[in-house]
Amino acid sequence: MTVEEKLGQLQQLTWTGDTGPGGGQTAETEAAARAGLLGSVLNIHGARHTNELQRIAVEESRLGIPLLFGLDVIHGFWTTFPIPLAQAASFDPEVSRRDAEVSAAETRTNGVRWTFSPMMDVTHEPRWGRIAEGSGEDPYLNAVFAVAKVEGYQGPADGTELGGDGRIAACAKHFVAYGGAEGGRDYNTVDVSEQRLRNHYLPPFKSAIDAGAATVMAAFNTVSGVPAHGNAHTMQTVLKDEWGFDGFVVSDYTGVQELIAHGFAEDGADAAALSFGAGLDMEMVSTHVVDHGKALLDAGRLTIERVDDAVTRILRLKYALGLFDDPYCDESAEITEPTAAARAAARDTAARCMVLLRNEGAALPLAATAASIAVVGPFADSADLHGTWGGPGARRYPSVSILDGVRAAAPDAVVSHAGADPDEAAAAAGGADVTVIVVGEEAELSGEAAVRSDIGLPRGQEELIAAVAATGKPYVVVLVNGRPLVLGDWFDAAPAVLEAWHPGIEAGHAVADILFGTVAPGGKLPVTFPRAVGQIPVYYNHESTGRPVDPAHPDEKYVSTYLDLADGPRLPFGHGLGYTTFSTSEPALGRDEISRAELARGEQVTVRVTVTNTGERAGDEVVQLYVHDVAASIAQPVRRLRGFERVTLEPGATVTVAFELGEEDLGFWTNDPAGTFLVERGRFDVYAGTSSTAPARTTLRVL
Ligand code: BGC
Repeated sequence: MTVEEKLGQLQQLTWTGDTGPGGGQTAETEAAARAGLLGSVLNIHGARHTNELQRIAVEESRLGIPLLFGLDVIHGFWTTFPIPLAQAASFDPEVSRRDAEVSAAETRTNGVRWTFSPMMDVTHEPRWGRIAEGSGEDPYLNAVFAVAKVEGYQGPADGTELGGDGRIAACAKHFVAYGGAEGGRDYNTVDVSEQRLRNHYLPPFKSAIDAGAATVMAAFNTVSGVPAHGNAHTMQTVLKDEWGFDGFVVSDYTGVQELIAHGFAEDGADAAALSFGAGLDMEMVSTHVVDHGKALLDAGRLTIERVDDAVTRILRLKYALGLFDDPYCDESAEITEPTAAARAAARDTAARCMVLLRNEGAALPLAATAASIAVVGPFADSADLHGTWGGPGARRYPSVSILDGVRAAAPDAVVSHAGADPDEAAAAAGGADVTVIVVGEEAELSGEAAVRSDIGLPRGQEELIAAVAATGKPYVVVLVNGRPLVLGDWFDAAPAVLEAWHPGIEAGHAVADILFGTVAPGGKLPVTFPRAVGQIPVYYNHESTGRPVDPAHPDEKYVSTYLDLADGPRLPFGHGLGYTTFSTSEPALGRDEISRAELARGEQVTVRVTVTNTGERAGDEVVQLYVHDVAASIAQPVRRLRGFERVTLEPGATVTVAFELGEEDLGFWTNDPAGTFLVERGRFDVYAGTSSTAPARTTLRVL
């Protein structure tokens, strides 16, 4: 390869047309492919279009190296699954695995072998719109869901299935700490200690890499002053040297160019030298490495070894994906719409993601015998419940509206509808046995660059709820949203509130499955719901202060709280109700179920929790395991999730769930930049139960 051809492999350009090559709009990209000066293209899809562009690269360039096509397939290509935050709420990684498998099959037959997913940005910021794209505030939960997605896209960690049908390469993003943006403002500064970086933001990436994630995307933010795109500590030292990552790191959209706006690089040449020198391997959209690479090599500002390393990483993935065996895709096998099986998976998983936030007097499930039901509110008849980052399918295939879902589930009832007008909603409610109020956020209010300073229900919706409540008739509230909301006073008065998130293509059917009890709700919150915006950040796994609130002395002044807010969040991490009741035992340690245990170095201990369905319906519960290191050389989170399992139990049935705790669960990373993981001797509290506030506790001593 010539130097120019090598640099070309490091370049990714975006496809700006809706068609294949030849339309005029994409002449530059085609010319680069023809000249062998292009490695990858994003935003093109469709078997015919990708084949046409691929033919240019393979048949007209000197070396015939195939292009790698990438696309943001975040929660579905044709078949839209619930948004990733919702998937995390299922506390069932199979949900994400199924999304990834369906997505991979649809995507690959459309000529694309690389998705920019999963996102695993742990965040404490509900104002940040991209909270919708990740798995919430907990590193462990993010790690488990990231692994499920990587495996669903790619197959086994050794990459042996990457070349086969139904598989695509994953991209672990955004590296790293993007969720820490100050004030929740997108792209904003992140100042993070080494211990916070390693304990909080890095673990999901490590798990994704161990699961074989083929690529990593750099983040738009700075990490303690150094932009992630030019950060040798994170990209080179941690990711490549410490973890041995042998895939490649792609920039985010114009992320190399943005090093200039960050005030880190003086010009494009500087930006290319700094980013590729720090371990970046592919430049998305801006073209500084191609434009200046040769001069940088000549001037000794970039080494040929570094360029060769980046090229090798990219070509290795092209080989693994089978592009050198067959660069084209079979146009006769292209999946062009959601199949019945894919829709069934989307419906089933969407229902598993829903969280019953409140249910007074068993207002839900709705009686199958209700003769008249009103479905009201701005999202009652919406066919756009796909949420942020819908794939091509979100533009082509409307989601089932909640109105249609209710109609299909209650064919004998009279179902009426009113939109966003409070008077009309109240009139409909007055004439119905029960009203379903559907409120929340449009898809555009979450996702990239969709930050809100006020995260209550958007204007007019609380008034609509109040108008229906004032009729005195029964009602339930369904929320469709992409982030935690500040729930107003209406929440405490509502008989029932179901968090449905943005549920995807089968939205209405999945909501109706839960409303009528065909499916029991069993999801849990993957993020804390704050009482007020002024309380943010509020998250369950915070460090203790020297002056925590003592519930026995709520009037104590000199403690870490707000004068004008009750202590704690509106709804805690891990919260979620069902249609039945469960009892859970105290956690028992060890084989003989003793209540105290000692753990020597290198040992594991089993924690057993027994769950019984004490109600009258079958249902799901998520058993959650938390640990707290009582005294450590670095202040520790008051609790950390280290295990969970979602179980389904018939009435009266009992099951014992077993978790293994080892050093990995009990130790922490220190502030040593070279990476030191410590397990310190002493007492650990082990909590088990059905939310992050579960009181049942036992104690473990590490020797
Ligand atoms: C986003 C990435 C995305 C990329 C390509 C960027 O704006 O931050 O998450 O993968 O665009 O579309």
